[in-house]
Amino acid sequence: MKLELTQALPFLGKEALQAHESEVATVYNTIYNKTGAGNDFLGWVNLPSEIDESLVADIEQTAASLRRKSDLFVVVGIGGSYLGARAVIEALQNHFAPLSGDKPLVVYAGHNISEDYLSELLAILDKKDYSLAVISKSGTTTEPAIAFRILKQHIVKKYGEQEAASRIVAITDKAKGALKQLANVKGYKTYIVPDDVGGRFSVLTPVGLLPIAVAGIDIRKLIAGAVEMEKLCKNNPTLNGNPVSEYAVARHLLYQAGKTNEIMVNYEPRLVYFSEWWKQLYGESHGKEHKGIFPASVTFSTDLHSMGQYLQDGLRNLFETVISVEGSNHELRIPMEADDLDQLNYIAGKRIAEVNHQAELGTMLAHVDGGVPVLRITLPEVSALTLGQLIYFFEMACAVSGYMLEVNPFDQPGVEAYKKNMFALLGKKGYEAQTQALNKRLGRE
Ligand code: PA5
Repeated sequence: MKLELTQALPFLGKEALQAHESEVATVYNTIYNKTGAGNDFLGWVNLPSEIDESLVADIEQTAASLRRKSDLFVVVGIGGSYLGARAVIEALQNHFAPLSGDKPLVVYAGHNISEDYLSELLAILDKKDYSLAVISKSGTTTEPAIAFRILKQHIVKKYGEQEAASRIVAITDKAKGALKQLANVKGYKTYIVPDDVGGRFSVLTPVGLLPIAVAGIDIRKLIAGAVEMEKLCKNNPTLNGNPVSEYAVARHLLYQAGKTNEIMVNYEPRLVYFSEWWKQLYGESHGKEHKGIFPASVTFSTDLHSMGQYLQDGLRNLFETVISVEGSNHELRIPMEADDLDQLNYIAGKRIAEVNHQAELGTMLAHVDGGVPVLRITLPEVSALTLGQLIYFFEMACAVSGYMLEVNPFDQPGVEAYKKNMFALLGKKGYEAQTQALNKRLGRE
């Protein structure tokens, strides 16, 4: 992977970047010496190179056995407990996976509380062989707990207690939480989410690795990509020649210059969920103390015809980070037509990828002209290896820019506010005073 700042430098200046050289070195010290805020959640830093071979082999074995008996594999989790797996799976599977006949198809539950979504999933599961992973570090998150209760009853009814237990994997804390207790009682296969790895940094633990392996993706290549980036950072914990630091500093400077919205741009629909993963990583890590860049995403060309106008001419508080992919897995050319009624012969013979590439360059220059700085990350291809690199790249850059912003990038206290209200409105024991206050505000006295 390669990072280019050329189209952002006019907004920043090379000198401004260099001025942060010593700060970057200090931040890396803080991370590697574990002296900063949230330092008990730095387990992801050495995770790729230190992952146990026996754990990888065990995950591969479990995945192979689940693959053999499943048309569908349901990943039950929310936030960091499903987005990493989904990002990698959707980036590497066939765009039309549900229709391709490839098995098992990975589907998701527990990331919403939609009655229709769950009901329609159950109707499909009635007709398919399936297995599932229930993933929750805390083991107490309401959304996946509700989905799992429903799916657990369904799978037991379909296969009986014993076979159902062999089709369920629980990925949770080593000791704490309701899910761990339940898994012990029911005898499910379990994997542990390490104490020192937070949800949104957990894609390279069993949280991401098991579903990704069940999807038939080579998790060793994913880990190898992350190891490359881990080593790059360790060998050069500075600003110069380290794309992680350059990205972190560039976005920090842009933020200080009033560019408070970062738009992750891709030109490949297979990367939509990668952007979703990135949004969670940055939104939950940095959006604190009324600070932080708002992370958003678009997929071009699709969104050029919806958000393109705003990006070109709207409020100038944004910058873009483009993920540019050089290679495609297929070759398809625009055919020549004798009558040229659609007037496309001027591009006849060109590959679709070439047209997409020119659309990308044309858009980038137009947006720069419109006052939008563009950072560009180029991947030679979308593969398990390059995704592994990119995952570690964004994780480390998130930590570096989080510390530059002077927040704790590893907690998420703000997520609790809605939960307390939901519990109170649902009448959970212990929330009586809040229930009364909220009902009053809602005019429900
Ligand atoms: O990054 C995080 O910590 C969160 O997004 C969690 O992953 C999310 O809230 C789910 O939590 P849990 O895995 O405890 O169910």
